[in-house]
Amino acid sequence: MTDLRVDLCGVELKNPVIPASGTFGFGREFDEIYDISVLGAVCTKGLTLEPRLGNPTPRIAESRGVILNAVGLQNPGVEHFIAHDLPWLKTKTRVIANVAGKEPSEYGEICARLDGLVDFVELNISCPNVKCGGMTLGIKPENVENVTRIAKNALKSTPLIVKLSPNVESIAANARAAEEGGADCISLVNTFTGMAIDIETRRPVLANNTGGVSGAGIKPIAVRMVYEVSRAVKLPIIGMGGITCAEDAVEFMMAGASAVQVGTRNFTDALACPKIVEGLGKWCAAHGVERVSELVGTVKTNG
Ligand SMILES: Cc1cc2nc3c(=O)[nH]c(=O)nc-3n(C[C@H](O)[C@H](O)[C@H](O)COP(=O)(O)O)c2cc1C
Repeated sequence: MTDLRVDLCGVELKNPVIPASGTFGFGREFDEIYDISVLGAVCTKGLTLEPRLGNPTPRIAESRGVILNAVGLQNPGVEHFIAHDLPWLKTKTRVIANVAGKEPSEYGEICARLDGLVDFVELNISCPNVKCGGMTLGIKPENVENVTRIAKNALKSTPLIVKLSPNVESIAANARAAEEGGADCISLVNTFTGMAIDIETRRPVLANNTGGVSGAGIKPIAVRMVYEVSRAVKLPIIGMGGITCAEDAVEFMMAGASAVQVGTRNFTDALACPKIVEGLGKWCAAHGVERVSELVGTVKTNG
């Protein structure tokens, strides 16, 4: 039997498989299909100080091997989450609260509110679908460092994960900026900015014109970025982007990820996460791997 436990910033997860922010709600609908306590953790939808309705529809478009979304951070607000979802979610597994704000000070306020209540805070400085804040804070290394520092100062007892945007000049430079700002962990990737056009109407498919690209087709780019970040910083990494099966999770771990998040796949297979947990155990057993954490960063690159 493989030991699937992983240590993330001193917090033990029963396994490294985590549904990604925005693809799992707060877990309730999935818990009707399977007991979500089999997951290493759950990452919530992006939380803001005030409730948000998100962008106008259509907000999702399909393309070959990927989807585009411009949901625009629809969520009930951090207070509603704390009162209604968190107590239940905590009885299930570890909780990662994904947070977003309009400006750095707002990130600080939300972090202060969540400090000590959740197992991790994940800073979403990489949302491509909101006008203010969101991705603009995640592009320039100096902005990444600044918002990370503000969030870190607001968190006295909860580890801070900084989620990087892939829409940047150097993912390694931004990872280093987050490390400099005091991040405890890096997660990547968020979605790649994209566009889909209905050629009959000559109009963008998404009401927002552009959206974030995710799903199986982005996996090789995400694996490369996880590898680059693992070379650039000493922090633990949560890898994601196009994971659909246990073998994909193994690939991300070999690239340097200590844990993985599974996003878009939850939409086409609601049981994707528990299948990946089970598959990881089987893959490790078949390959003589006693502890899944032994896989981290073991890629043998050439030259
Ligand atoms: C519909 C949808 C909503 C998302 N909402 C968020 C969000 O609120 N916060 C966030 O950090 N990432 C959000 N993401 C990005 C995912 O968490 C993940 O980083 C990305 O989709 C890549 O992983 P995947 O290819 O496995 O989906 C969202 C993705 C999708 C598809």
